[in-house]
Amino acid sequence: MKMRAAVLEEFGEPLAVQEVELAEPRAGEVLVRLHACGVCHTDLYTASGADPSGYAPAVLGHEGAGVVEAVGPDVGSLAPGDHVVTLFSPQCRECIHCLDPRTNLCLAIREEQNKGHLPDGTTRISRDGEEIRSFMGCSTFAEYTVMPEIALAKVSPEAPFEHACLFACGLSTGLGAAINTAAVRPGSTCAVFGAGMVGLGAVAGCRLQGAERIICVDLSPQRLELARGQGATDLLEGGEGTVERILEMTGGFGADYTFEATGNVAVMRQAVEAARMGWGLCTVAGVAGRGETLDVVPRLLITGRRIAGSSFGGVKGRDQVPALVDRYLSGEIDLHPFVTHRLGLDEINRGFELMEAQDGIRSVIEFA
Ligand SMILES: NC(=O)c1ccc[n+]([C@@H]2O[C@H](COP(=O)([O-])OP(=O)(O)OC[C@H]3O[C@@H](n4cnc5c(N)ncnc54)[C@H](O)[C@@H]3O)[C@@H](O)[C@H]2O)c1
Ligand SMILES: [Zn+2]
Ligand SMILES: [Zn+2]
Repeated sequence: MKMRAAVLEEFGEPLAVQEVELAEPRAGEVLVRLHACGVCHTDLYTASGADPSGYAPAVLGHEGAGVVEAVGPDVGSLAPGDHVVTLFSPQCRECIHCLDPRTNLCLAIREEQNKGHLPDGTTRISRDGEEIRSFMGCSTFAEYTVMPEIALAKVSPEAPFEHACLFACGLSTGLGAAINTAAVRPGSTCAVFGAGMVGLGAVAGCRLQGAERIICVDLSPQRLELARGQGATDLLEGGEGTVERILEMTGGFGADYTFEATGNVAVMRQAVEAARMGWGLCTVAGVAGRGETLDVVPRLLITGRRIAGSSFGGVKGRDQVPALVDRYLSGEIDLHPFVTHRLGLDEINRGFELMEAQDGIRSVIEFA
């Protein structure tokens, strides 16, 4: 079938919206009609050419929500009409990692996904016979996508698509960092560094876990106000001296849990240093630049602080994304402030511009 898609032709160039060919779903695959898709830093990072593992031509986008249109052979868990959220982090429910509660890093399709292929090593998108690769296994800057069944979470049809798509990446990452990775205990003091989609999700996750005090640190006063809306009790403008201020606010000890959601290694260090001696746990969600390292004085670890990393918030997508969406539907999380711009697919490059200008939290592409 023919569909419109935003194609990355050359790194550093705007995406080109055009008609491409999409093949039928094969065994274990599903055809999804997209209704909404968030524009994320990772898309921009790849489009700019900064990501050394990027490839072109490719259809970017990985924060999709839509409806199953058709299923290929051997698909058992999804049927036409189901509402789904795309998962760049799949869940096969069979590999050694899927069977272990300690991790969400499914091993089933990693290699082919990293090459821009579907699990059988081929692509479904093409143009005049030339293959166009998929991105993060999703390629959701398009009217339709074909994805593996194991990379789709079936969610409540009551969730509006523009909110459901937020669960595909940053929001679940932040919520999960607090709920899964850190497993914040009720009554705790938390400090969240960064108030973008991931950091705001972490603030909400700390609140849902029953944290008593949530300190949020960011450079932008507007973003700090959004953090207040998600449950932050103390707002701090970041920069030098942030660790000292958090120590002062916590009787000299530091926070029980800290979260880093900026991608800046200097802030990661602050997040480690602001964690409490004895049991403070620092959860790192930000993605640092290639080759950058985290500088930590080992004594901080010997005296009881720990550091954990979190990919997609430790969320096992097919099991947990639907549950998170249900918590949103029951009124536990307010997502209205996160969708700041609604754009058509043709305006995709405007979405990148808004993100570079830090204008709003999420631009969402809506499909007619
Ligand atoms: N681990 C994962 O699975 C995963 C998933 C999605 C995103 N990420 C990563 O998480 C990070 C955050 O993503 P996002 O979408 O929320 O980004 P974002 O750019 O929207 O938010 C980052 C925030 O950090 C703030 N910031 C910058 N410097 C700061 C400082 N010195 N002190 C305090 N705050 C500071 C910015 O003002 C901004 O509000 C990125 O590195 C992204 O790549 C990781
Ligand atoms: Zn993303
Ligand atoms: Zn698996």
